Amino acid sequence: MTKDFLCLSDWSLEDLEKIIALGKELKAKQKEGTPHKLLEGQTLGMLFEKSSTRTRVSFEVGMFQLGGHALFLASGNTQMGRGEPIKDTARVMARYCDGIMIRTYSQQAVEEFAENCFVPVINGLTDMYHPCQVMADLMTVSEHKENYKELKYCWIGDGNNMANSWINAAAIFGFELRVATPKGYEAHPDVIARAEKAGAKLIFTNDPKEAAAGSDVLNTDVWASMGQEAEQAEREKTFVGFQINNELVKLADPECVVMHCLPAHRDEEISDEVIEGPHSIIFDEAENRLHVQKAIMATLMAR
Ligand code: CP
Ligand code: NVA
Repeated sequence: MTKDFLCLSDWSLEDLEKIIALGKELKAKQKEGTPHKLLEGQTLGMLFEKSSTRTRVSFEVGMFQLGGHALFLASGNTQMGRGEPIKDTARVMARYCDGIMIRTYSQQAVEEFAENCFVPVINGLTDMYHPCQVMADLMTVSEHKENYKELKYCWIGDGNNMANSWINAAAIFGFELRVATPKGYEAHPDVIARAEKAGAKLIFTNDPKEAAAGSDVLNTDVWASMGQEAEQAEREKTFVGFQINNELVKLADPECVVMHCLPAHRDEEISDEVIEGPHSIIFDEAENRLHVQKAIMATLMAR
């Protein structure tokens, strides 16, 4: 087990399953009002270079429920935003905080931060990965479906940070993952190559219908991620046909579930009626960010 949570591939199946199980245990405790102050007196520093609703709120509330405290830092208001080197920021924050959650652009920056930080570092999203989200997603599927490791999953849309993390998860958890992206918007080639080498059951296509056919879990995300706003109009044209709507859902298994990490652009990558429809587990998915991240923090930070 590494000291950090930067990328799912740094972790074993056994350890990730333990985190999901702990997430469920902490969720039950929180629902019944049983105290679970596993991080009493500890502080999580949260450094954001990009916007957030779910990540910020779930980590902050999660630390409070674990008996600790979370500190929100928007990088623009820190010296890092004025050019203080990452390695200096990391070394200083480690001396005040018991753990750090960071959301930024480059995965290398998070890795550099972690290398220079002697307390655990958690990746709260980079351009490359969103590992906490995929942990929440898997926990959610496992609550709605038996044998969540044996289901057919599909990814429809952009080959972005979420798609990369799903490909990592497919390699670790062993499920089949169909990935439908437009040409030129594939997931990162290094991520695909590593997963294929590890024996992942991956199927790539440019046809969303092919990916959705018979799938148990349908998943998508925005067509233009944070930092790609200037490409929005061009992407809207390229991604036509990649919307998860009732027509696509009808091709999937009749008992399928639909996921989206949120925020969603309704009627763009996913139709409003699917978000609100009977197959959607999207708001359970959002809730589970809280529970699974509490398990991640407890696993990394508990003394
Ligand atoms: N899904 C997710 O990470 O949401 P936020 O950008 O609101 O944190
Ligand atoms: N792919 C999206 C996920 C947001 C939670 C982004 O990076 O903006």
